[in-house]
Amino acid sequence: MTDTLTIRRPDDWHLHLRDGEMLKGVLPETARDFARAIIMPNLVPPIVTAAEAAAYRDRILAALPEGMDFQPLMTLYLTESTDPQDVAAAHADGLITAVKLYPAGATTNSASGVRDLDNIQKVLEKMAEIGCPLCIHGEVTTDTVDIFDREAVFIETVLDPLRRRLPELRVVSEHITTKNGVDYVKSANRNLAATITTHHLMINRNHILVGGIKPHYYCLPVAKREVHRLALRVAATSGDSRFFLGTDSAPHTDPNKESACGCAGVFSATNTMACLAHVFEQEGALDQLEGFTSLHGPAYYGLPVNVGTLTLKKHTHPIKFPARIETGEGPVTVFDPGLDIYWSVE
Ligand code: NCD
Ligand code: ZN
Repeated sequence: MTDTLTIRRPDDWHLHLRDGEMLKGVLPETARDFARAIIMPNLVPPIVTAAEAAAYRDRILAALPEGMDFQPLMTLYLTESTDPQDVAAAHADGLITAVKLYPAGATTNSASGVRDLDNIQKVLEKMAEIGCPLCIHGEVTTDTVDIFDREAVFIETVLDPLRRRLPELRVVSEHITTKNGVDYVKSANRNLAATITTHHLMINRNHILVGGIKPHYYCLPVAKREVHRLALRVAATSGDSRFFLGTDSAPHTDPNKESACGCAGVFSATNTMACLAHVFEQEGALDQLEGFTSLHGPAYYGLPVNVGTLTLKKHTHPIKFPARIETGEGPVTVFDPGLDIYWSVE
């Protein structure tokens, strides 16, 4: 039996760190295990200019506890008034790693997102020209489209036409939650990859709704039927380099989650690597974990892999992860995988 597994230090290709006291509270949970992360720009107000990204990066580095080694990979929040030259300069300086597209109204703090892709054509063309990846929250926001269908409809009506119009644009389809998403990524032989979260490999929509409503499993895109979860597990554990980890760890305080109108977001930074070891072991694919967490992402982004390593250990007893962490803004509940996990990070 494998009881320890040493892999290259992982990266998180989709992470929400917030700002202020929340940033201070959650950053060590990621920096403990991960060397780098793509930092989501959906603050209030969002990070839309290079200057704002530089200031936010400095606040993240200032919040990093002494002795921890972590590099935030910054992104800009794309709006209909984003200046292509500002994006190009920030990318050339290494200040930003990618640009994030939120359809307006798709999720938490996305009110300034894009309403009409025609209005961002110039900036997308510039990004294609300079090789700056576009990270996409792939859900339509049309009222008449069922929330469980929003990803599949987005692929057909927005993503595929966009990629046909601009085949040189490097796209990351973020936090895919459907078999449709898996199949679409597999159908592309260049310039398309996808991130998958830890929680979407472990829960389906029943976890949210059966036996009482469970707000801590509610995130966007919302977890789908079991058939979709199984397709995500096959993709993540297959060794296909087009799929890699983006936890979408997204902290909200417990009062904001446990509310008549609870916020979307699962906070999984604390136990993500242990949960993933469990998933990959269940799939008989522990040998593919390193690719998913540490190799495929850097390859797609054209970055070096990390020099350091991370060791996971399998115990004979289940590991007790904290139910919540305390932050200066209030308690934040940690993702509960709903089953015993025997793995921990050494
Ligand atoms: C994210 C958040 O809270 O910022 N929420 C979520 O459910 N994933 C926003 C997002 O990435 O959709
Ligand atoms: Zn997110």
